[in-house]
Amino acid sequence: MSDRIPGFTSTGSKRPAALFGDAVPGLPARMVSARGADVWDDRGNRYTDYIMALGAVALGYAHPAVTAAVTAAAEAGAVGPLPPVLEDELAAVISRRMPWIESLRFLKTGAEAMAAAVRIARAHTGRSDVLGSGYHGWLDWAQAPGTPGVPDGAAISGTLPFADVERGRAAIRAAGDRLAAVAFEPIVLAEPGGEWLRMLREETRRSGAILIIDEIKTGCRLAVGGATERYGLEPDLVVLGKAIANGFPLALVGGRREIMEAATRTWISSTLATEFVSLAACRATLDVMERSEVPAHLARIGGRLLGGLRDLAGRHPHLVRRVLGIPEMCFLEMEEADGIRLARAAARRGLLFKRSAYNFVSLAHDEPVVDATLALLDEALSDRG
Ligand SMILES: Cc1ncc(COP(=O)(O)O)c(C=O)c1O
Repeated sequence: MSDRIPGFTSTGSKRPAALFGDAVPGLPARMVSARGADVWDDRGNRYTDYIMALGAVALGYAHPAVTAAVTAAAEAGAVGPLPPVLEDELAAVISRRMPWIESLRFLKTGAEAMAAAVRIARAHTGRSDVLGSGYHGWLDWAQAPGTPGVPDGAAISGTLPFADVERGRAAIRAAGDRLAAVAFEPIVLAEPGGEWLRMLREETRRSGAILIIDEIKTGCRLAVGGATERYGLEPDLVVLGKAIANGFPLALVGGRREIMEAATRTWISSTLATEFVSLAACRATLDVMERSEVPAHLARIGGRLLGGLRDLAGRHPHLVRRVLGIPEMCFLEMEEADGIRLARAAARRGLLFKRSAYNFVSLAHDEPVVDATLALLDEALSDRG
């Protein structure tokens, strides 16, 4: 294996070890193209995919409306010396569709937009501490103390165990008036209970801290407006990424105007935040999301997948511990070695199915595709090779 890219690839979750436990001859390692729910590797093999670019693609790969929009934007120059008209137009579209986003800033990656949300919360409150719940990206503020390369002072102040109301409340109260923000992922392996969501809102309000909802996986998937829309939440700030531009590099932080104002009193800026290929992809994606009622499709098709996975768990109880997740994002919990064996057996049969991390359906997955996948997983689970 080449050592030109340490760890094989720049996206850790795509490395062979993450997919198959190790690099294995004959299993796919690098791809050349993707369309709909299909991916072609560098040996010309086709796979039905549920990794969907780690949840960044909800319309299917190379969706024609998005491809047309990005082609036009590329032909129009893609970037320039001035901010594009499209930046302001798209902000208006998003605010209209998600009224809790009164103003926003675009960035390129989820981690970057989360870091911007934390910076804005700190600048607005004049406080330092941040509590997180879930995964918020690779940047310093979101790492546990002791992470190699991260000085302890830069690491996250603490983490809240998902849906643990009492421990969450205690941690927020213990942080007192040092607490700038609580950032949380609304779904971590299961739906959140109402009590957890209410506690986070009430306690942050009581403390004067900013409530940041990390909707990077849930935005444009649970609903166009993510968990905030589905559960009727009242965030101070939300962060969207991944599916909002169907795989083109775009993320955003947005929320209450008076809090977002703090972005002008600190320094948050990126040269390519205003390239307009990704902005065009986002506008086209949101349009398809509404027109084709994509979240309803994901819930229906994902429900079929999740139901089928539960049947498989019943048929293979010695291998499958639990089925985790929700229709829109789910997986089989298995012993490490069994999960690896399943991922390899599935790939040999033309299926890319994540072990120990979410699988995602898209607009390109339909009933026949899901039924074929379930039959194939049944076969793969029976494969002891
Ligand atoms: C909930 C959540 N927050 C933040 C991130 C980081 O986003 P990115 O990988 O685009 O930097 C991710 C990525 O998986 C995520 O799922």
